[in-house]
Amino acid sequence: MISLGIEGTAHSIGVGIIQDFKGKCHVLSNLIKTYTPEKGGIHPREAANYHAAHIADLISDSVKKANLNFSDIDLVSFSQGPGLGPCLRTAATAARALALTLDKPIMGTNHCVAHLEIGKGTIDECTDPVLLYVSGANTQVIAFAEGKYRVFGETLDVGIGNCLDKFGRTVGIKFPCGPKIEEMAKKGERYLNLPYSIKGMDIAFSGLLTAAEHFFHKGNKLEDICFSIQETTFAALTEVTERAMAHTEKNEVLLGGGVASNTRLREMVNIMAQEREASFFVPSQRLCLDNGAMIAWLGFLMYENGIRMSIEESVINQRFRTDMVDVTWRG
Ligand code: ATP
Ligand code: FE2
Repeated sequence: MISLGIEGTAHSIGVGIIQDFKGKCHVLSNLIKTYTPEKGGIHPREAANYHAAHIADLISDSVKKANLNFSDIDLVSFSQGPGLGPCLRTAATAARALALTLDKPIMGTNHCVAHLEIGKGTIDECTDPVLLYVSGANTQVIAFAEGKYRVFGETLDVGIGNCLDKFGRTVGIKFPCGPKIEEMAKKGERYLNLPYSIKGMDIAFSGLLTAAEHFFHKGNKLEDICFSIQETTFAALTEVTERAMAHTEKNEVLLGGGVASNTRLREMVNIMAQEREASFFVPSQRLCLDNGAMIAWLGFLMYENGIRMSIEESVINQRFRTDMVDVTWRG
């Protein structure tokens, strides 16, 4: 089956096409365009306007890149939530228009579940992981238990990516700030004591953010602050991930989301996995980001397992939680 997926939960708009082969996912194309505001944060409506301006070209380019014709597409999937309302509505509208034009079924998917399934779908040995999903808006530790993907731990305030971006904005680094903070952190020499807040299996970053900004205003070296932010936040993320692994007795850990590009985070989680004799997986860079291929793959899994969605049911849900999805395709 050939499934086309449209992803538009936040500042990226993506169109990907996948084909299933012996239970695994083959990515035929996966195009992403990202809205970057001139200054400041993302304004949802401006991001949605950007998506609307690019979606038609992305769809046709994606079909071309996959060496297909429109008539080859069997299913149109889209990100139903969670995310920013105007962005979600733009992606969903495009999906409806395409499904109706091609006279093909439509499938709305949960964005966070898609991040987990694409790891399982594209990495052979990855079968039942605990996912550490670290993006701009989201920070969650997710694993399968009793018919659902459950959130074992999550941020109580901002996502880790937003935390890095907010700090970056304060100190004058251009968005997205994560990669530049990573570069600076490599030159850090001194660890500055930052608040480390874990409550149960949940994490909070806003106290750390305030403290880091305070260090900056006091004239501490930016490299040292970046180093300390990474060491502290990543240690907390690794700790809650390890707790979820122990609790669920799972021996695989998977990274997802834009912050999964960070080599120091990968290193820390990998060390933790090795110490537990568990396997550590990261999908390819593009499949970690918000992308259409992961939406296409999850849509396929749902469709193949008998789930159907009418156009009337294809409404978006800004607060679509991971554990609202009945994961019937895992048996
Ligand atoms: P979602 O809707 O899933 O929350 P998003 O659009 O907010 O997605 P992504 O596109 O998954 O987020 O990731 C973007 C975030 O990743 C930004 O906050 C960016 O700073 C961060 N990031 C990217 N590369 C790195 C890196 N090397 N180290 C740390 N953070 C990074
Ligand atoms: Fe995401």
